[in-house]
Amino acid sequence: MRFPPSLASSALDFFHTDSNLLRRFDAPHAWCDERLAGGYDPYQTSLDGCVGTRVRGRLRVGSRVSGVNLASQDYLSLSAAPEVRAAAIAAVEAEGVHSAGSAALMGLTTGSLQLERELADFTGFLDCTVFPIAWAAGYGVITALVRPSDHVIIDVLAHACLQEGARSATANVHKVPHLKNNAVERRLRRLRETSPEAGILVVTETLFSMDSDSPRIGELQDLCKKYSATLLVDCAHDLGALGATGRGVLEEQGMVGQVDLLMGSFSKVFGSPGGFVCANSVSLKWGLRYSCGPSTFTNAMSPVQAAVVRSSLALIRGDEGAARRERLARNVHRLRSALQRLGYRVLGRQSAVVPVIVGDVAYGRILSKYLLRRGAIVNLVEYPAVSPKSSRLRLQVMADHTPADIEEFVATLRAAEQDARREYDSFAGEPVEEEAHDALQDSVVVPKLPDSVSDSTVVPKYGRVPKLGGL
Ligand SMILES: Cc1ncc(COP(=O)(O)O)c(C=O)c1O
Repeated sequence: MRFPPSLASSALDFFHTDSNLLRRFDAPHAWCDERLAGGYDPYQTSLDGCVGTRVRGRLRVGSRVSGVNLASQDYLSLSAAPEVRAAAIAAVEAEGVHSAGSAALMGLTTGSLQLERELADFTGFLDCTVFPIAWAAGYGVITALVRPSDHVIIDVLAHACLQEGARSATANVHKVPHLKNNAVERRLRRLRETSPEAGILVVTETLFSMDSDSPRIGELQDLCKKYSATLLVDCAHDLGALGATGRGVLEEQGMVGQVDLLMGSFSKVFGSPGGFVCANSVSLKWGLRYSCGPSTFTNAMSPVQAAVVRSSLALIRGDEGAARRERLARNVHRLRSALQRLGYRVLGRQSAVVPVIVGDVAYGRILSKYLLRRGAIVNLVEYPAVSPKSSRLRLQVMADHTPADIEEFVATLRAAEQDARREYDSFAGEPVEEEAHDALQDSVVVPKLPDSVSDSTVVPKYGRVPKLGGL
């Protein structure tokens, strides 16, 4: 196939080392504008109004999109729940809108402290520390604990906040193949032989959102005990949404309160930005308040965030939460089975995240154009977040989706596929095989840059720059 750069290139092709730092994004920006002009840039869509199962919004340059929404992270639809909105309004009236200080100084509020106690109780740990965003919790707990002489063993698909935290903390980062506990054990054994005194942190997620799959957590925790390592798991995508009482994958696997460290996010299920770290330790809070950049040197969670998350947590723990989880599970089942019946490759296990492989990156971009045009709001995940041949739609289901929403989405997908096939086939030409990537890249027209851009600008080929962690 002969594709234009807007379909053939990847963001990594525009990874510049120009000495003029402010010019470094000129080329990727121009490339993204080219994608947008062709309709192949589904990113940075903005919402007009509330998050919901049907939304209106705008693409990056302002053209309108609307339709069934499978692109938002609001799995239990709590961000629109009347109780949660009322809690936010009450908090604004009673406590104002801002924490106005770091958690190490005057930024804690009655609400955030209550939330910490309630979450510790819900997750089965001795203590919990909250953060204003979950990215900071993941990055912060690793950088607070791990010293340069320590080691981190991390699943290759673990979230970017965990990968970046590991890289910032130590050069001794060991990526292990996705979900391969035996690779973790091999690495632990070798490290204990060579570095008997070093701290070792093993990092994984309870539910990976690229593939919707889970590791065997009990086995990992046993390995950590055997080799005197510490296990950190991130439950961003399942706490509240999975498990009979909402305690997530840990509940499904009989591991509630039994991992060394648990971190999570409020932004997928609890209707608010924010995150937390739980542990059976009373001193860890001291470290996270005073010795953790993204907590110590940033303003703490606002009273509104705390009120929203507390109100969501109360719902999640009660009958309302159970009913919402049940509706979500039914919707997920309906969507997964409809797609599988039509022959789509749907990855992983039943969860709010439904990853559907669409394959070739160019095809994925073309498909996203027709999905948006026909009224389906979805997220495309493409290289370098995943391999160039395994682009996927990461569909995110909500409790409030109706059977009609799901049916409409599936019908829209089928129609968009026909449009996309036609457009994809129109690029037919001399085939470009995997090993001919270099030739393809030579034909890529790098967007025109200002004359003064230096010759040191580099355009790496596919694969030169290491793959990023999960999103
Ligand atoms: C596994 C995982 N951990 C952490 C985060 C960060 O969460 P937040 O966006 O709430 O800061 C995310 C969000 O994308 C995630 O998917």
